[in-house]
Formats: sequence, C-alpha cells, structure tokens
Amino acid sequence: MLLKFLFLAVLAPLLLVQCLDSINDDVLGLIVFKAGLQDPESKLSSWNEDDDSPCNWVGVKCDPNTHRVTELVLDGFSLSGHIGRGLLRLQFLQVLSLANNKFNGTINPDLPRLGGLQVIDLSENSLSGSIPDGFFQQCGSLRSVSFARNDLTGMIPDSLSFCVALSVVNFSSNGLSGELPSGLWYLRGLQSLDLSYNLLEGEIPEGIANLYALRAINMRRNRFTGQLPVDIGGCQVLELLDFSENSLSGGLPESLQRLSSCATVRLGGNSFTGEVPGWIGELTSLESLDLSVNRLSGRIPVSIGNLNVLKELNLSMNQITGGLPESMANCVNLMAIDVSRNRLTGNLPSWIFKTGLKSVSLSGNNLDESTEHPSGVSLAVSLQSLQVLDLSSNVFSGEIPSDVGVLSGLHLFNVSSNQLFGSIPPSVGELTMIQALDLSDNRLTGSIPSEIGGAVALKELRLGMNFLTGKIPTQIQKCSSLTSLILSRNNLSGPIPAAIANLTNLKYVDFSFNRFSESLPKELTNLSHLLSFNISHNNLKGDLPLGGFFNTIFPSSVSGNPSLCGAIVNRSCPSVHQKPIVLNPNSSGSSNGTAFNLHHRKIALSISALIAIGAAACITLGVVAVTLLNIHARSSMARSPAAFTFSGGEDFSCSPTNDPNYGKLVMFSGDADFVAGAQALLNKDSELGRGGFGVVYRTVLRDGRSVAIKKLTVSSLIKSQDEFEKEVKKLGEVRHHNLVTLEGYYWTPSLQLLIYEYVSSGSLYKHLHDGPDKNYLSWRHRFNIILGMARGLAHLHHMNITHYNLKSTNILIDDSGEPKVGDFGLAKLLPTLDRCILSSKIQSALGYMAPEFACRTVKITEKCDVYGFGVLVLEVVTGKRPVEYMEDDVVVLCDMVRGALEDGRVEECIDGRLQGNFPADEAIPVVKLGLICASQVPSNRPDMEEVVNILELIQCPAEGQEELE
Ligand SMILES: *[C@@H]1O[C@H](CO)[C@@H](O)[C@H](O)[C@H]1NC(C)=O
Ligand SMILES: *[C@@H]1O[C@H](CO)[C@@H](O)[C@H](O)[C@H]1NC(C)=O
Ligand SMILES: *[C@@H]1O[C@H](CO)[C@@H](O)[C@H](O)[C@H]1NC(C)=O
Ligand SMILES: *[C@@H]1O[C@H](CO)[C@@H](O)[C@H](O)[C@H]1NC(C)=O
Repeated sequence: MLLKFLFLAVLAPLLLVQCLDSINDDVLGLIVFKAGLQDPESKLSSWNEDDDSPCNWVGVKCDPNTHRVTELVLDGFSLSGHIGRGLLRLQFLQVLSLANNKFNGTINPDLPRLGGLQVIDLSENSLSGSIPDGFFQQCGSLRSVSFARNDLTGMIPDSLSFCVALSVVNFSSNGLSGELPSGLWYLRGLQSLDLSYNLLEGEIPEGIANLYALRAINMRRNRFTGQLPVDIGGCQVLELLDFSENSLSGGLPESLQRLSSCATVRLGGNSFTGEVPGWIGELTSLESLDLSVNRLSGRIPVSIGNLNVLKELNLSMNQITGGLPESMANCVNLMAIDVSRNRLTGNLPSWIFKTGLKSVSLSGNNLDESTEHPSGVSLAVSLQSLQVLDLSSNVFSGEIPSDVGVLSGLHLFNVSSNQLFGSIPPSVGELTMIQALDLSDNRLTGSIPSEIGGAVALKELRLGMNFLTGKIPTQIQKCSSLTSLILSRNNLSGPIPAAIANLTNLKYVDFSFNRFSESLPKELTNLSHLLSFNISHNNLKGDLPLGGFFNTIFPSSVSGNPSLCGAIVNRSCPSVHQKPIVLNPNSSGSSNGTAFNLHHRKIALSISALIAIGAAACITLGVVAVTLLNIHARSSMARSPAAFTFSGGEDFSCSPTNDPNYGKLVMFSGDADFVAGAQALLNKDSELGRGGFGVVYRTVLRDGRSVAIKKLTVSSLIKSQDEFEKEVKKLGEVRHHNLVTLEGYYWTPSLQLLIYEYVSSGSLYKHLHDGPDKNYLSWRHRFNIILGMARGLAHLHHMNITHYNLKSTNILIDDSGEPKVGDFGLAKLLPTLDRCILSSKIQSALGYMAPEFACRTVKITEKCDVYGFGVLVLEVVTGKRPVEYMEDDVVVLCDMVRGALEDGRVEECIDGRLQGNFPADEAIPVVKLGLICASQVPSNRPDMEEVVNILELIQCPAEGQEELE
C-alpha cells in the first residue's frame, strides 16, 4: 500500500515528467519553430502540438529506436520568417535542410551546438548578415554546410578551418568578400568547395594539394588575382576545376596534367598567357574544356585529339593561330566547339561534318577555303545533328553549297561577313528548324528564292549587304515567326509586298538602300510589334501608311525616297486617295477629268492655272495662280480700346490696380454701360450655351444692345494678365462681316469674361440638325453660309490667327442668314499650345479634328482649320453630322462622301430635304472642295483664300440662281 502510494505519488510523476521531457522536447521545439514562421501553403499542417511524437510529421524523420528526431528536411516549402531557436531543442538532429524557402534574418550561431548535426543546408533563402564567427567553433561532426544563394556578406570566418570533418562547403552566390581563410587547406576531408559568385579577392594560397580528397572546386566569378596554385595537380581525384571569370594570370601550371580524372576544366575569363599546353592531351577524362577569353597564343596542340570523351571545347577569344588539327576527328564525342575570335587560318576541316557536333562556331578568324575545295563550304556528310553553324567573319569564298538543306537540324546558320558569291540555294527552304539565317555582308547575287517560305521556324532573316536582285517573294509570309527581316543594301526591286503585313511578329525591318518602288501597302499598319522599319533610300512612292507605328516613324527611316510623300517626309501628296478628286465647276465641259477648260462667266483662266486637283494631274491647289484678294483691315480695328473699372464705369486709371475686389473691364468699342451688375452678367437664366472654353450668357447693355458674355472655365490654364490682355486685344482687332466681333473683356485673376457681339439666330448646328424639317436651309442659303464661313476664316488666317475649334455649334447665323464664325483663337489664351489640351478641351467635337492632332511629329498649323472647314462644308451640303451613330455602326461623314464620290453616287449624299432642288454644277464641286479641304495631309489642303476664290468660281451665274429660286 505504501509502496503503491509512493509509486503513484512520487515516482510516477517523475517518470512521466522524464518521459514527457524527452519526447515533448522534440514536439515542443518543432512547434516553437513552426510558430515563428509563416507557412502560406500550410505545408506543416500535420504538425500538431497535441501529438505525442513528431515522427509522422511531414519533413521529420526519427531514429527508429530512440524515436528522437534526427532529420528535418523542409526544402521548397515556401516557408518564411526567421529560423527560430526552437530547433535548438532537437538534441539528436543530424540533418537540417531548409533549402529553397524564404527564410530571412541572420544565421543562428548556436545551431552547431546540436552536437550531432552533420548536415546544414540553408541554401536558396534570403539570409543576410555575415556568417557568425562562432558558428564553426563547435562543429564536431559537421560534414556538410551550404549557405549558397543567400544574401550573406562579410568574410568567411577563419574558424571554418576548425571543422576538420567537413567534406562539403558551399557558400556560392552570396556577397562574401575578403580573402580566403588562411587555414582553408587544413580541411583535409574536403571533397567539394564551392565559393563561386562572391566578391572574394586576393591570391589563392598554396597548399591546396593537402586536399587529397577534393573532387570539385568552384571559384568562378570572384576577384581572385595571382596565379593558379602550382600544386593544384596534387588534388589527384579532382573532377571539376572552375576558376573562370577571375583576374588570374600567368601560365597554366604544369601540375595540371596530373588531373587525369578531371572531367571539367573551366578557366575562361581570366588573363592566362602562354600557349595551350601540349600536355592537355593527358587529361583523358576531360569532357569540358573552357579556356575562352584569355590571352593564350600558339597553336591548338595536336594532342587535343587524345581527348576522346571531350564534349565541349571553348577556346574563343584568345590569340590562337594555325588551323584546327585533323587529329580532332578523333574527338568523336565532341558536341560543341567554339574557337571564334582567334587568329586561326586554313580550311574548314571535314571532320566538322563527320562527328556528332551540334554547335560549331568558327566566326571571327581567317579561315578560308583552299583551292582544292572550290565548291565552297563543303558539306561532306549530311548531318541532322548540327544545330548551330557560325562561320561568320572569316574569309570563306565560293558558293553556299546547293545542298545546304541537308543540314536539316540547323537552328542557326551564320556565314555573314565572308566572301561568298553565287546565289542563295533554294534548298534553304528545307531548313525547317532554322531560326536565324544570316548571309549578310557577302557577294551573293540572284534573287531571294521563293522556297524561303519553307523555313517556317525562321525568326531572323539577315540578307543585307549583298548584291541580291529581284522582288521579295510573297512566300515569305509563311515564315510567320519572323521578328527581324533585314534586307538592306542590296539591289532588290519591285513593290514591298502586302504579304509582309501578315508577318505580325515583325519587330525589326530594314529594307533601306535597295530599289523598292511603288507605294507602301497600307496593311503594314497591321504590324503592331514594329520597333523599327527602315525603308530609306529606295524609290518608293505615294504616302506612308497612316496610323500605328507609322505615326511615329523616324524621318531618317523614310528619307531618300524622292517620290514618297506625306507629313513625315514633309512633302505633300498629290492626293491622299487613290482616285483623284477633280474639282470641275463646269461639269458640262468635255473634259475626261484630269484637266479642263474653265471659261466660266467673266473669269477666264488657263488650264494650268486652274483647279485641277488630283493625283493624275499632279496639280495641287498650291500652284493655282489666283490673285489673292487684298483684304484691308477695317479702320475700326485701329480704334484704341477704352479702359474701365468694372464697378463704376470710371476710367481704369483712377482705381487702385492692386485691389482684388476690382476687376479690369476693357471695351474695344468704348461702350461699357451694363444694365446690371457683375452678378447679373452671369445670370443662369440668360445662359446661352456651354463650350470647351466656357459658359456663354446673354446680357443687355444700357443702350439696349445685347451682348454675349463668355465666362472662361479654363482659368487655371490661362496665361498671366499681360499675356491674356495681349492676346485678347489681338482678337479684338479682328473685325469681319463673317466673324463674331469680340467687343471687350473683363479680367480678374480668378474670373475672365469675354464680351461678344450677340448674334440672334442661333448656331449653324441648330439650323442643320435641330430645327423642324420644314425649316430646312435652301441650297442658296447653304452655299452662302459656306462662302461666308470661308471668307471669315480667310480673314482670320490673314490676321495670323488660327481658329483651332471649328464646329457647327461655333458658327452663328444672324438675322439676314449670314454666317458668323465665333470662338476663334481662344487656344492662344492657354499658356502653351498643348496638343492634349487642344484635342481634348477644344477640338473635342468629334469629326472636326484634323488628323495631325493625333500625330506628334506633325506641326499644327492653320491648315487644321481648313480640315474643320472641309468637314463643315460636307455637313452643310449633306445635312449630316460629321460622325453619325447608327444602331450598330458609326458613319464618318468624310469617308461616306468620299466613297460615294468614288462610286459616282455623290448626288445621293446631298441633303434629301432639298429634294433635288440644287444645281449639280455647284453642289458636286462644293462636295469635292470639302473633301480636298478635309485631306489627311495638311499640305494637301488649300489655303482659305484659295477656297474663297474657288467658291466664287463655282458659284453659278446669276441666271442659274434665278432659275432655282
Ligand atoms: C523578414 O521578412 C519579414 C516579412 O516576411 C519582414 O517583416 C522582416 O522585417 C524580415 N526581416 C529581416 C531581417 O529582413
Ligand atoms: C552549391 O549550391 C548551389 C545552390 O543550391 C548549387 O546550385 C550548386 O550546385 C552547389 N555547388 C556544388 C558544388 O554542389
Ligand atoms: C494574309 O494571310 C491571309 C490568310 O492566310 C490571306 O487570306 C491574305 O491574303 C494574306 N494577306 C496578304 C496581304 O497576302
Ligand atoms: C473621254 O473618255 C471617253 C472614254 O472614257 C473617250 O471615248 C473620249 O474620247 C474621251 N474624251 C476626251 C475629250 O478625251
């Protein structure tokens, strides 16, 4: 009883505690470890703190006898956070591998206290800080440590050399710096040392031969200087030796020849000198030899032929002379050879095509073809295995062998910059895997074979700098992966085929310096990935495709084509459209539509002087010799403005200029007697309308005269007061029967008003589109409106003012039916003539905006008004808005009328409400004039003064008008 009590009361808890202690230490440690990290993919969901044992948890392995955790392997679990202290409880841990996670923070220096730890792999995380010096001071059984691919900095601790059991050290790809620890070579057991991709410097200490077990040493891409250790050959079981991309110099130490087990020697990217040693042939296990980018000289030793397991040989970018030894035919396992950019001479050896080579680069040497092989690059044996053949920049001559197609596995074939002649063999089309074909800079003649279309995998085709003739074969469109098509500097001719437009992956196109002719297919705008398109120095004609890449093409890419026209080359096109538009006021004449006599009424003008506008005749309005009207500014413009303060109508000079309550009112006509005060000016009830620039109100002056007041709503964009006044005064000087007169203005920093003449009968828009159908405008009325608008604009342009904002809502009609152009020149009040603001704020009216607004490289001139006028003409004649939205269609007026004209149905476009009551002699030329004014290219549009003259010529004789009315 007593014993039982004792057991229960004293021993049991003790035992229990002991038992719990031993088992739960692992559970507890792992749970604490888990609690300190993020596990976004719930990889550790099996880790349950209620479990008695962690041995079935994911990533955990236990000793089958003791049930204590011996291995924790959580590679690639996407875990992040710190590597917590919980792990220190796993007293029997032997393997800790947390590779390829996102752990950050520093390395815990106490980890090696777990005396049984043999393997630590923390590679591919985001650990930072330096490797703690204490880490290696108690590493009794540590055999393998990897911190590769983290962000560690600082030096490699000297204490590393205490860990004599180490066989694997991998600190690759960190930011470690400083010299190698002096005791490094004491680690006799070291089998693998990877310190590549760090910032280590200094010389490699001697004594490396002490590491008799070393199999792999990788010091690639550091900053080591000095020589390779002369005793390196002492590491006789070495299989991998990589010291490439350092600053090592001197010769290759002779002891190297003892490395008969070495499969990989990489010493590229240093400054090694001397010859490629003859003993290289002793390294009979070599599979990969890279001595590239050094200063090695001499010949390639014949002994290299002994390396019959060699797979890769890279000797590029040295100063090696002589030829490729025939003995290399024995290197039957060779897959890739790169001897480019040396000073090799001699022939292309035939073994190149006999071994199983996949990649051959001999470019940048002086290899040539001896006279015994006059057929040029001889392809002795057909080889499907060859994927890369780069013979560029040598002095090969002769022809490209006609059976080049047998190299059907080729991905890259580069023979550029040689002296090859003859034509491109059609069998290139059999290279169905080829991605890059470069034959440029040779002396090739003949044409591009249409068979090229068979090379369906082609991404880059470079044939520039040859003497190729003929056309681009349309079959090229089958090479649908093409991204680069370089044909520059040949004698190619014919049109650029529209088929090119089907190569939608094209990025780089160079057709420059050829003899391509005719016009560019407009389908080219389909090429949405273009980055450059050079067609300079050809004989191309016509205009550039509009839109897409071609709006921003560099002028230098199109230069040197005398007949190319359009805005980019700054040369006007005879006509934007294929069919000429011929303006023929005397349509009853006998002409067939190119040029014609116009003995019209009293004005007799010669054929050449008159209005033949079109591609066929090549006579643009620019050469129409019509004497310009000399419009004199009316005397009223010269009147000096009277200035008032707004509040009392007193002279401005009597009021304090700096008082913010006072604005400045200036009336150009001298009358500033408003009936109402400032607020009444802006009475909502009298609001007339709103536009891009502001709200317009109507108010009455004391003399009973009405004025329209525009309150500018773009005040944040307005210039300084001085500049504002200067511009407004300039606008105030404009007086014309067909322009809305600006009578004055009012200025405060926060409020600007423009005071206009009030025009009673509303806007042209209202008359055309808003009125009842019965009140439609008659033809005569419409013609007068067109002529009046033209006169108003001509005057404006004469005053050097561009309207920028033409649209039918800005054309007002007065009592007598005369049009008055309003809202002109306001864009000048903006601080800069910003294209964005112009197109968004002002030219917002859809359909009136000239195309150059969308084209950054074209200067905006008063010709944008001519475009808007052209659209207005069409609007007046057809009674349709510039852009009409139908149920599921958008009709652009210009395109619709142009199409109708080309189909000979133009009369159908004229406003149906006229019911045929219009003289075709007048209406059709007016439509044509409207289309010409709405030409895409600014320079194709006539001046407004020319437009006025043409309209006056078009106008039917008085008797005709009387007949109609
Ligand atoms: C570790 O990453 C967490 C976020 O995952 C971050 O909050 C913490 O600051 C990082 N610690 C260090 C030392 O970079
Ligand atoms: C060192 O670690 C990196 C990253 O895990 C790995 O890619 C590399 O192969 C390792 N080096 C050696 C010699 O095993
Ligand atoms: C582009 O390819 C399509 C479909 O293959 C074809 O119908 C069309 O004619 C081609 N375009 C040109 C310009 O050759
Ligand atoms: C006009 O063209 C027609 C055929 O298109 C032709 O028969 C006629 O001779 C031409 N007239 C003149 C004046 O050229």
